[in-house]
Amino acid sequence: IEETLVLVKPDGVARNLTGEILRRIEAKGYSLVDLRLVQADRELLAKHYEEHEGKPFYEPLIEFMQSGPTVAIRVAGNRVIEGFRSLAGTTDPTTAAPGTIRGDFGRDWGLKVQQNLVHGSDSVESAERELALWFG
Ligand code: GTP
Ligand code: MG
Repeated sequence: IEETLVLVKPDGVARNLTGEILRRIEAKGYSLVDLRLVQADRELLAKHYEEHEGKPFYEPLIEFMQSGPTVAIRVAGNRVIEGFRSLAGTTDPTTAAPGTIRGDFGRDWGLKVQQNLVHGSDSVESAERELALWFG
């Protein structure tokens, strides 16, 4: 059985959408294995987002991710990595399909596309690396 790391980012926690996001994960039939409320620091976020270092949105993203608590969730299920990304919708909340988390609730704040509520690991390798970072 596959596992993925889901994050409810600070915008999702601040907007009280954690329950709605957990509800969608559970309704799909995936299992919650572990869950923590984390105030992420720069060191953790630099590791989590190392693939984006140097990109124009990197610094605003790291700042934003420290703006409040994040809910980190270890989720298990058959093909859950691909499945959660499908539940989340595409990165840009304006064009994410209705019915997805980002499509239904994400808001576009101009250049701050990063406020798209959730993160989901994008491969088996990313999931292993990210789960080790957030859950040790
Ligand atoms: P995650 O599940 O959060 O990793 O999203 P993703 O895989 O859909 O996107 P990606 O890994 O490419 O980027 C990580 C995060 O950086 C995104 O979720 C956004 O928050 C932010 N991001 C990505 N691309 C852009 C962009 O072009 N502009 C801005 N402002 N933020 C971006
Ligand atoms: Mg990604």
